[in-house]
Amino acid sequence: MPSNDRPDPADRARQRRRLVIACALSLALIAGAAFVVGAVSGRAPGAGASVSESDSPDARDATPTPRPAPAVTPPPASVETFDRTAHSLDDPASIWVVVNKLRPLDPQDYVPADLVDVPVEHTWPPLLRQEASDAVVAMFQAALDEAGLELASNSAYRSYAAQEEIYDGDDLSTARPGFSEHQTGLTMDIGAASGECSLDACFGETDEGIWLRDNAWRFGFILRYPADKTPITGYEYEPWHFRYVGVALATEMRETGFTTLEEFFGLPAAPEYG
Ligand code: DAL
Ligand code: ZN
Repeated sequence: MPSNDRPDPADRARQRRRLVIACALSLALIAGAAFVVGAVSGRAPGAGASVSESDSPDARDATPTPRPAPAVTPPPASVETFDRTAHSLDDPASIWVVVNKLRPLDPQDYVPADLVDVPVEHTWPPLLRQEASDAVVAMFQAALDEAGLELASNSAYRSYAAQEEIYDGDDLSTARPGFSEHQTGLTMDIGAASGECSLDACFGETDEGIWLRDNAWRFGFILRYPADKTPITGYEYEPWHFRYVGVALATEMRETGFTTLEEFFGLPAAPEYG
């Protein structure tokens, strides 16, 4: 027999059921009220009750301001066409001058006006035009910073007289005096500071040669005598010979897939002297 001091368990269960039912009814009433308010105000239930500026009576009464038509989006700058006439291909002082077996320097004894010492590691003290020198310095520094590679110059500007001295009669590997890109002051023969594969085709397989092949364009240089272009350039593969043409042209050639100046500018191939 349960004592009078302690509630009957059956009573306790009944009380709990009543409490649960009362709570459920309260929640249902609150949810119903929220739904009605939301429907009247045009909001989904639970979307929040804050009143924004556009809900104020003034805003609702005002005549709506017509929205301006969306502006036409201009095309991205990158689709601008490259101007192939921006620099001369004939003037020896132009950074785009094309020198090959059919296109000698004119005048033949041209000397660049702004030759400077190039402050980089070298076998022979290099001279280049100021713009090309700055680009070489930046490129050598990047090779060191980005890949830990030490580069060195093996040859840069060569005068007509200097080219006379080094011309060895092999027209596939050496230009005749007055026909060498080195005379423009825009070209450098680059090697590893270690001397590995210096001025040899195997330089193209060294870490330094691979880095230059892949990155020279960023500094405005092109590998001027690719392995597969001897019938176009007239010279055998020279993975060390880099010609400065400026970042704009080097980038455009890379993006369009051209690897020789002759093909990019639609000039005749120059396998032989005229
Ligand atoms: N070795 C390159 C072709 C020059 O002599 O200019
Ligand atoms: Zn060279």
